[in-house]
Amino acid sequence: MSYNLLKGKRGIIFGALDENSIAWKTAERVHEEGGTFVLTNAPVAMRMGQINELAEKTGSQIIPADATSVEDLQNLVEKSMEILGGKIDFVLHSIGMSINVRKGNHYTDQNYAYTQKGTDVSAMSFHKVMQTLYKAEAMNEWGSIVGLSYMAAQRVFPDYNDMADNKAYLESVARSFGYFFGKDKKVRVNTISQSPTPTTAGSGVKGFDGFIAYADKMSPLGNATALDCANYTVSLFSDLTKRVTLQNLYNDGGFSNMGVSNEVMEAFVASEKK
Ligand SMILES: NC(=O)c1ccc[n+]([C@@H]2O[C@H](COP(=O)([O-])OP(=O)(O)OC[C@H]3O[C@@H](n4cnc5c(N)ncnc54)[C@H](O)[C@@H]3O)[C@@H](O)[C@H]2O)c1
Repeated sequence: MSYNLLKGKRGIIFGALDENSIAWKTAERVHEEGGTFVLTNAPVAMRMGQINELAEKTGSQIIPADATSVEDLQNLVEKSMEILGGKIDFVLHSIGMSINVRKGNHYTDQNYAYTQKGTDVSAMSFHKVMQTLYKAEAMNEWGSIVGLSYMAAQRVFPDYNDMADNKAYLESVARSFGYFFGKDKKVRVNTISQSPTPTTAGSGVKGFDGFIAYADKMSPLGNATALDCANYTVSLFSDLTKRVTLQNLYNDGGFSNMGVSNEVMEAFVASEKK
């Protein structure tokens, strides 16, 4: 269903890798709601080729950019305004990667070169994206910038590894930069804290299957899907949420306020009896 919530709005969407990506679903929904945008991803991710399909489907152009490179970001922002024919109204930062997670390094046995790279990609890139937009005067007033987070920023999920620290950093950048973007340019900045979701990045977390099943059983409304996240993001890009800013917003079926659910209790009791 379309409500035309983003008619006439222009944006940049980072991080659509394949059809499971949260950014992929968001691009599809933004397109349905009448928004136009440029798609971007790291040059290495684009070699896999699937993003072309999304571009075709949504009538979008693709500009490669490594989100850790300010030069790439400057080029992206400049070209996006040219392609879209004006300043930007919405930006989705949907980027995350930990080399320690990928290589199976335990949190207590980090390779710090990997830690630093992961922080740069997953958190500092959010600052770099915003600083580039800010300096280029690229955002329209009442524009909206969204980053994607996870509750490991607040609570312990042991296997989330150094991504937990990266998410805490990401959420802090949203507040700190959001202050200046709000004051100086009337632009809002928020993060959505999303349920575990079966994507390439999500499935990389050790024990992901247990993780996702547990969260689902804990949440009164069940896990939020990638499409749920896309819909929430559309609402944050729309004019219906103009004064929502500096927030970390949970899209998690209620998980973040749960202590225990009956289903989890029952499963636990059943396993104790064995
Ligand atoms: N999947 C989950 O369980 C979950 C839960 C909460 C939050 N998130 C967050 O959602 C966001 C999107 O992840 P996803 O789950 O859709 O997985 P995904 O793997 O589909 O997307 C991650 C994207 O980051 C991109 N990326 C990596 N390095 C980059 C770089 N240097 N420059 C530009 N892009 C780069 C990848 O190419 C990929 O497109 C991430 O921030 C992730 O941490 C995911």
